[in-house]
Amino acid sequence: MKSVKRYIISGIILSGVFACRQGTTVAEKGSVKSDTISPIFPDTLNMPKGKFGEAVRYGRDLFLFTAYYIGPEGVNGKYTGNKINCTHCHQWAGTKPFSFNLMKSHERYPMYRAREGKVLSLAERINNCVTRPHNGIPLPLDSREMIAMLSYLKWINETVPKDKWMTGEEALAVEFPAKAASPENGSRLYAERCSRCHGPNGEGRMNADSVSFLYPPLWGKEAYQPGSSMHRVIKQAQWIKANMPFDSVMWNKTVLTDEEAFDIAAFVNDDRIHSRPNPATIDYPFPEDKAIDYGKGPYIDTFSEVQHKFGPYEPIMLYWKNKGWKPRF
Ligand code: HEC
Ligand code: HEC
Repeated sequence: MKSVKRYIISGIILSGVFACRQGTTVAEKGSVKSDTISPIFPDTLNMPKGKFGEAVRYGRDLFLFTAYYIGPEGVNGKYTGNKINCTHCHQWAGTKPFSFNLMKSHERYPMYRAREGKVLSLAERINNCVTRPHNGIPLPLDSREMIAMLSYLKWINETVPKDKWMTGEEALAVEFPAKAASPENGSRLYAERCSRCHGPNGEGRMNADSVSFLYPPLWGKEAYQPGSSMHRVIKQAQWIKANMPFDSVMWNKTVLTDEEAFDIAAFVNDDRIHSRPNPATIDYPFPEDKAIDYGKGPYIDTFSEVQHKFGPYEPIMLYWKNKGWKPRF
């Protein structure tokens, strides 16, 4: 167990070193920084006035009521292919700590993104989420909607000091279990802890108006695509440990153990038992950039797709480290 822990820590440090290239918010997790500040919650009373303020407000509304505005029956355009809202994953419109927090995003881009193998602008990164988790078509870069989302992200970014590390801007740290994550155990845990809201078949529950979800679907044709980062087991385990079950958890008062979070994420994301909208997407043009929990080859190592997806991850991390490569997740 000791060596496993040591190994995890070195992985964390490595991923921190490559934060910029990796382009994810998991970087540097676990590192103790003297200039860490408590989470900041932007005060909507301080939203700017004038035309820019209008864009910021509309941008925030788009995060909260995505389906209403730009969903399959959107009143301002039909862009997303399902009825989920950005805020289901980027909770509190991207301001909740450890919930794929977006308050630093505006200053992070343009940035190299391994999944696409190129430098992306923030607008292109937004469109990644419009197309994958939302199964939609990209927003035109000069559309009112794209400008509004960018304006909102700029405004929330202005509320955080540039040189400080904010608690919760990264993913919650989890320890990799020594064994592979178990979809079977995850299925049992899902029935106990998740299905009362997300439904026994992961179908979620619509609001009465049928415009959007009260409880978003977790698999099936209304849910996120396999190309979404939420489909990766480590990424989802970090998120659900900090954020679910919705009614009983806070990032500083978690409910699931790390192992439970991994098992549930394995169950939710197991394509052998659950289907998803699946347009052929080509990801990670450079296998040396591939996140270790990405379940589709080719890889530059000798591990199977199943092990990459479900773990155990430490042997993969160790293999990469011994080769002098940088594992990312
Ligand atoms: C099913 C979950 C899900 C939904 C819904 C979703 N996203 Fe994301 N988004 C993610 C994940 C996962 C990441 C990667 C976070 C990480 O690597 O830590 C991400 C990353 C991002 C980033 C980049 C953050 C950064 O600083 O690098 C932006 C911007 C973003 N999303 C915008 C949106 C917008 C806008 C919407 C709604 C149209 C949306 N997302 C909906 C899961 C989701
Ligand atoms: C009490 C109801 C409730 C329970 C129980 C619950 N969730 Fe959720 N879940 C929600 C709500 C509501 C959201 C949307 C959050 C928001 O909009 O802020 C959500 C969002 C999510 C999302 C992101 C949205 C998406 O499209 O993927 C995932 C993943 C998720 N839950 C997984 C789980 C798992 C796994 C469990 C069990 C450990 C669980 N939830 C238990 C209510 C619940």
